[in-house]
Amino acid sequence: MDQVTPQHVVVMTGATAGLGAHAVQRIAAQPSTRVIVGARGSNPSVPRGVEVVPLDLSSLAGVRAFADEVTRQLGDARIDILVLNAGTQTASIEGRSADGFELTFAVNHLAHYLMIRLLLPHLADHGRLVITTSDTHDSPMAPKTLEPQELAHPTKTGFGAGIRAYPASKLCNILTAYSVLALDEVKARGIEVIAFNPGLTGGTSLGRDASRARKFFVRLLMGTLFRVLGLFRPQFVRGTAERSGEMLAEVSLGNIAPPPGKIYVSLVKGEATFPDPSELARTRDAQDQLWRESAVMVGIQ
Ligand SMILES: NC(=O)c1ccc[n+]([C@@H]2O[C@H](COP(=O)([O-])OP(=O)(O)OC[C@H]3O[C@@H](n4cnc5c(N)ncnc54)[C@H](OP(=O)(O)O)[C@@H]3O)[C@@H](O)[C@H]2O)c1
Repeated sequence: MDQVTPQHVVVMTGATAGLGAHAVQRIAAQPSTRVIVGARGSNPSVPRGVEVVPLDLSSLAGVRAFADEVTRQLGDARIDILVLNAGTQTASIEGRSADGFELTFAVNHLAHYLMIRLLLPHLADHGRLVITTSDTHDSPMAPKTLEPQELAHPTKTGFGAGIRAYPASKLCNILTAYSVLALDEVKARGIEVIAFNPGLTGGTSLGRDASRARKFFVRLLMGTLFRVLGLFRPQFVRGTAERSGEMLAEVSLGNIAPPPGKIYVSLVKGEATFPDPSELARTRDAQDQLWRESAVMVGIQ
């Protein structure tokens, strides 16, 4: 009788462009690995053999439909690795999700929060959850206090409001990672949780929806100020999508792991470092508050 090779199941968002496209190539090249990617659009680009299930993170109903379809297709199989890498950066707080939430918060945080809540019961024991965050969560543009309602329905407009939405959403990713890790179910089942920061990465399409003026300004900053800063602060040195993707794959596959007790893997000049996230990200009250309020927002009690 033929032996059936057990398959590793990887489910991933944000695999159709940027660093995620490089990561998924590497992940899909592993032997006996089944990869299911959530992607929007009629003809998403994924490597051969990778399965696509429709997903638009700007709709909570879309996330629910995705989770239903993935679990239906998996049947009794479990997800070994869940990689939540999709992200958007619009530099505006004008956009709204299908459910009326500020778009950056909705796509980067709420949709992934709901996906975790729906797919966690289907994660294998000793499985791995990787959430892509950003070191901008700990930058001067990041919030100093957590106000989930303000992030979901912004009232404070004015200069910089749009720019601040992105680091705030990435702070939410880390707060969520800590909350997941604190769950009894996660501890009991030995599930690993990692928040991954690719660091400043060129050659991706993040920020593609920004205005032309902003794109020009960012290019100018990269070519001038960031180059000078990079001489003194290595985190300002821009990496490539290839390297960031390779490292996301290595982290997802368990080949790179933070030391015990840590959850944050942060690339500096393309190499993994394991610093502590911001103090706010490590604050238990903020983690609990975001978890509770997000549950209400997505309709889970
Ligand atoms: N680039 C950087 O400097 C940098 C630094 C720190 C952290 N990050 C984080 O790294 C991750 C990947 O970013 P990237 O730079 O590679 O950006 P990217 O090239 O724009 O890729 C973003 C990915 O997210 C997907 N996505 C965005 N909105 C979506 C939606 N509504 N529904 C479904 N999928 C959606 C995109 O799908 P489509 O192909 O359909 O657009 C794409 O696959 C993000 O979480 C980002 O925040 C990036």
